[in-house]
Amino acid sequence: MQRRSFLIGAAAASASAFGQGSNDAIGTGVIGTGNRGSHLTRGVLEQPGAKVIALCDIKADRLDKAATLAARDNPRTYSDYRALLENKDVQAVYIATPCHLHVEMAIAALEAGKHVYCEKPVGITAESIGRLVRAARRSNKVFQAGQQMRSMTRLRKTIEQIEQGVIGRVLMVKAQRNSSNDLAHDGPSADWFFKKNLSGEYLVEMSVHNLDLCNWVIGGRPERAAGFGGTLLYKNDPPGRDIMDGYNLTYEYPNEVKLAYMQLVFHPRGLPSGGQFTHVYGSKGAVDVTNSMFYALQGKEQPRELVPAEKEDQHAHTAAFYECIRTGKKPVADITVGATAALTAILGRESIYGKKVLEWRDLGVEL
Ligand SMILES: NC(=O)c1ccc[n+]([C@@H]2O[C@H](COP(=O)([O-])OP(=O)(O)OC[C@H]3O[C@@H](n4cnc5c(N)ncnc54)[C@H](O)[C@@H]3O)[C@@H](O)[C@H]2O)c1
Repeated sequence: MQRRSFLIGAAAASASAFGQGSNDAIGTGVIGTGNRGSHLTRGVLEQPGAKVIALCDIKADRLDKAATLAARDNPRTYSDYRALLENKDVQAVYIATPCHLHVEMAIAALEAGKHVYCEKPVGITAESIGRLVRAARRSNKVFQAGQQMRSMTRLRKTIEQIEQGVIGRVLMVKAQRNSSNDLAHDGPSADWFFKKNLSGEYLVEMSVHNLDLCNWVIGGRPERAAGFGGTLLYKNDPPGRDIMDGYNLTYEYPNEVKLAYMQLVFHPRGLPSGGQFTHVYGSKGAVDVTNSMFYALQGKEQPRELVPAEKEDQHAHTAAFYECIRTGKKPVADITVGATAALTAILGRESIYGKKVLEWRDLGVEL
């Protein structure tokens, strides 16, 4: 709370520059009130300068549940997001619908003059992401991608130490996202998740977080990708599934940096090397980014923690969004970060589908 009060206080000083009085609660709408939309709604309710005034979902039960959650703010409910966008009191919107809808909704929201917090991936095709990038740059509103790792304090401080040279020159990154379970085949998101034209693939829907982290630690974006993968275990399960369940990718970045990335969803519990990690190798040692641990090359010093663990505010990214609205500050996960992360995942996906080395420039998007 102390940190937030400070942010809002600091924001008030420059609020007039961005046209938002510091005492006005920012009228907020949430489009897509499922799993993530509910989490985001809870986050908005925690913000001292925001109100949930509009909610939209095509599923009545989800909408009712969210309306109950946000009852304090008495939101209007909508089944058509375009009607929500016509509400002039809505100044900011969260988009937490299935991934194939993000671009269309985000562009419409920006064109309606709303600040936009768009869940990751910002889009699932290169062409549509190109359109969103142009719309976000045309707009004078805040666009923030839902890459909330960018607002995590320990991660940021760890990466700052890598940028300051704790491991020397970054040479290679090894990262993975292995899990022991496939997404629930009968769960609430099964109606879109297992179709690549709706979710974009595991790679684009989930690994976009891990790949964004890799881009962040490397300090750039890949030049090319190559990989192999497929639906190895859960063939046509659930019926109609066309997304992969296991793959390996190699990315090449400028300055010869290489990334080896893997994801599979059938890693048995207890088998070593499961879960998620990001290991960054440099000329003086390596860092386990997730645990903020430094390991010197050839064991020249004892492994040490770079940044102590601290309790993170799970809604820090939401707080950051309002800070940007109030102050005009550039979001840590702006359109460039969000589009680059999604395009990195798409580059990998298309290289696997096409069984070829794919160049970044082949994506045809100006960033
Ligand atoms: N940042 C994160 O860590 C994180 C975590 C989970 C999900 N997500 C992202 O959030 C998004 C939603 O994921 P989820 O897990 O909440 O899925 P979900 O299936 O629980 O929720 C999606 C909701 O969108 C609604 N919807 C579908 N079409 C709509 C339309 N035309 N208009 C309004 N509402 C519509 C659905 O009815 C559903 O309630 C996805 O893009 C996902 O990738 C991000």
